[in-house]
Amino acid sequence: MADVDLNPGVAQDDVNLTSPVFFAHGDPHAIWRRLRAEDPVHWTSGRLTRKFWSVTRYADARFVFMNDTRIFSVQRSGANLPMGPEFEDPASSFFTEMSTSGQQLSVMDGVPHSDLRRYFSDTFSRKGVDGLEHMVRTITTDTIDALLERGECDFSTEFAGFVPTAVISAILGVPKDRWNDLYRWTSMLAAPEDPEFSVGTPLETNTAGVTNIMETCATLAEEFRGKGQDNLLTVMTRAEIEGKPLTRMQLGFNGLMFFGAGHETTRSSMSTGLAELLRHPDQLDYLYHNRHDPEVLRVASDEFVRYSSPLTHTLRTTTEDTVIGGQPVKQGDWVVVWFHGANRDPAAFPDPERFDVTRAPNPHLGYAVGKHFCLGAHLARLDMQIMLEVLLDRLDEIELAAPIEMSSSNLFWGIKHMPIRFKRRG
Ligand code: HEM
Repeated sequence: MADVDLNPGVAQDDVNLTSPVFFAHGDPHAIWRRLRAEDPVHWTSGRLTRKFWSVTRYADARFVFMNDTRIFSVQRSGANLPMGPEFEDPASSFFTEMSTSGQQLSVMDGVPHSDLRRYFSDTFSRKGVDGLEHMVRTITTDTIDALLERGECDFSTEFAGFVPTAVISAILGVPKDRWNDLYRWTSMLAAPEDPEFSVGTPLETNTAGVTNIMETCATLAEEFRGKGQDNLLTVMTRAEIEGKPLTRMQLGFNGLMFFGAGHETTRSSMSTGLAELLRHPDQLDYLYHNRHDPEVLRVASDEFVRYSSPLTHTLRTTTEDTVIGGQPVKQGDWVVVWFHGANRDPAAFPDPERFDVTRAPNPHLGYAVGKHFCLGAHLARLDMQIMLEVLLDRLDEIELAAPIEMSSSNLFWGIKHMPIRFKRRG
């Protein structure tokens, strides 16, 4: 394989893949399409000092996920590319330091990972999530009722983003008067280069978002300790990592995980879903007529996730020499799986660029697969199913009121603002 540095055209694509600002204005899909066809395991140099392998085919992505812990570690270097060169050194980026210290479920390997995951599994199992339906429905209807009279809103922030943040806050036990702060801090941590969320340099903005969320979660968890309350922060106070209760830092960092994982992803999937439905009125009509069929809405929500793939990538470090899709990869190399590449691979999905809410089967990797399979997948499906049902029930003649804006993030990529107009149905 040719070294991409020798080819200025290719190098520009590499720079773009590592540039959050490019994601707000450029077309990363064109890069993933080209890589998948021409160089599916691509040695990528971008604006980071470290190079990495970009994996863009479905079969290769599955291979990586199915060999987590055995050949690939998430713990050694964390689960995402540094957001910029200034984030590369754990000594200067608190987020990088935390992400590479094995103190949070999503960045742990092996037995400690599966042990900690077990503490959360009741809450997020299919049965556990079914028990949350009433709470999710109440939050969703209250949110939409408050918007109905206005006849317009920013769908992405005021509905698609607000509902999952409120739901995860309620599950954790975070009081209502903190929900808006948590929403803002999550945006600061996820898109620190975006001037809209900036409170300083990207590094300062990210660190402020991270520490505020961690502080809030850790303080609440310590307040809840021993009081037998029925919330997830209380569950965390009972959890152990390698036989020891979670430290204040670990309580904060695991609490933070749920905001990053649950808010940005569900918001993008829902917003992309509605944007595509507005482009495909026949599919909107089909969902309207089936809006009380949970199965139809769940199938649709899976297409929202495949099509939007809101987590753009995940990172692994190889623990031994291996071969991915015919490409030898050395021990210690970074491997980045780009979800959009895999989820639009024609080898896995017929007509992959087509948005189709009836697509079944839909074995997308938007929630990953294997040991780190999204813990919140059942909850995300329920959130989207109820949001869709309530939306279809109450809003009519929905249209875009201004152009859509995309977020400046090459980690959680998706719709940032989506102003819509609508009429109240009936
Ligand atoms: C559409 C919505 C969502 C998508 C597309 C999504 C996607 C993902 C993906 C791809 C992973 C694996 C990352 C990796 O392998 O490095 C993951 C892990 C995770 N997700 Fe989600 N997620 C969504 C919603 C949620 C929600 C609502 C929650 C909970 C509130 C959640 C909690 C988690 C957690 C805790 C992990 C780490 C699991 C582990 O490492 O064992 N996610 N998610």
